[in-house]
Amino acid sequence: MIKGVIFDLDGVLVSTDELHYAAWSQLAKMIGITEFNREDNQRQKGVSRMESLEIVLEKGEKCYSDAEKVLLANMKNDIYVNLLTDLDQEAVLPGAVEILMRLKKLEIKIGIGSVSKNTPIILEKTGLITYIDEVSCGLDITNSKPDPEVFLVAANKLGLQPKECLVIEDSKAGIIAARAAEMRSLAVGPEHKKLDADYCSESLSNELDWNLLLG
Ligand code: BG6
Ligand code: MG
Repeated sequence: MIKGVIFDLDGVLVSTDELHYAAWSQLAKMIGITEFNREDNQRQKGVSRMESLEIVLEKGEKCYSDAEKVLLANMKNDIYVNLLTDLDQEAVLPGAVEILMRLKKLEIKIGIGSVSKNTPIILEKTGLITYIDEVSCGLDITNSKPDPEVFLVAANKLGLQPKECLVIEDSKAGIIAARAAEMRSLAVGPEHKKLDADYCSESLSNELDWNLLLG
């Protein structure tokens, strides 16, 4: 019996995955990398900022020191945070609020499990914070997905056992992390069929069988 649902944030509840892509594309151009594309970006989903940078740098010739990599990651984050300036409830993906309201009514606990260190600002700006019981994010963990840490911290904060949690994810790293945490998983988004989750749906706005998902 599921007592809590742990949502990934970028690409599940909000469209910020597109802003990450825009910011990485801008950084790539600034350092002379023209080959960075959506396929590369797909691999960045769910992994940390530094690991995402490595995926960009694979497309170039130049080697960077650790200190230079930190500077590049900071540059990307500055671009990204700037793109977040105008973020509001319009960025919430279709169906998300309806599901959060339904879960609240059913007295299912709601958690966030995102490796993004920008999670608090995104939850505030979109107003989603009002629905969330506990947040586990990049600021709480040392290992990013596919390590299960972010979901285990979320379950712990919610006071639930892993088997009592359902994870909703849009990334391969996230579905592997949910499995490693021994949690049930629902994949959403453009890659939902490829992700080897327990259940999948193109979008949160599609009709979902909550008896099955929570049973
Ligand atoms: C995840 C995104 O939610 O957060 C990744 O899917 C991103 O693409 C990661 O790299 C880290 O985000 P941030 O905001 O801490 O740079
Ligand atoms: Mg995601």
